[in-house]
Amino acid sequence: FNHFFEESSEQTTKQTTPDIWVEVRALRDMVVELKVELRNMEARVKDSESQVNELKAELMVTKVQMELLQRENSVQATQLISLETRLTATESKTSDLEKQNAEKPKVAFYTALTNSRNVGPYNTDMTLKYSKVFTNIGNAYNPATGFFTAPVKGVYYLQFTAFGYHAGSMGIQVYKNNQRIMYNDIWQSSGGDKYFTNSLVLELIAGDEIHLVLPSGNFLYDDKDNYSTFSGALLFPL
Ligand SMILES: *[C@@H]1O[C@H](CO)[C@@H](O)[C@H](O)[C@H]1NC(C)=O
Repeated sequence: FNHFFEESSEQTTKQTTPDIWVEVRALRDMVVELKVELRNMEARVKDSESQVNELKAELMVTKVQMELLQRENSVQATQLISLETRLTATESKTSDLEKQNAEKPKVAFYTALTNSRNVGPYNTDMTLKYSKVFTNIGNAYNPATGFFTAPVKGVYYLQFTAFGYHAGSMGIQVYKNNQRIMYNDIWQSSGGDKYFTNSLVLELIAGDEIHLVLPSGNFLYDDKDNYSTFSGALLFPL
């Protein structure tokens, strides 16, 4: 067994001896190559590390920005809710106002007395029935009675003009609910055109009545020229 072994090992040594140097050289070359590769790898790892650090920093900045944005977003969400609330309130107010405006009573009238020229004098007070109705928004003036009836509580503007040209007295009394609230007259000793105009601003409640009266012994004149007029309007409801 020994003999066999020695012989074979000697043979092997003889056979491999020239190859060892080749292999050593190859190994050295490999080591050199590996060293180079290792250096490359080190450089790449360093690169990657620095990139990772940069990314970390960027990520942190992004996180902070995101937090800021989230905070802003929640502030804006709150503002949006309060704006929505205000918008809803404004919308309902607007529709209320539209409704109020649509329902707002509209009252205005404009009339003239007659086309039949002389009115009066009579020996009693006479309610004046202004028969030429040119404007009667709300139909608060009734030409059959000569009465204006306030349809709603409010402030009303009323105006009349009286015309006459005879010698004598022309006059107009104003009545509110059959109580006199104004007396106007003009005396003229000889004929000639005479006018007077007066106006009232009255706080009336719904149903209050206004009418004009020709006092006994007084006269007025009107024809197609609309000399003697009576008009009024609701300034605003109360
Ligand atoms: C009297 O008034 C009415 C309504 O405004 C008008 O149509 C008419 O022409 C007037 N008469 C005169 C002579 O101006």
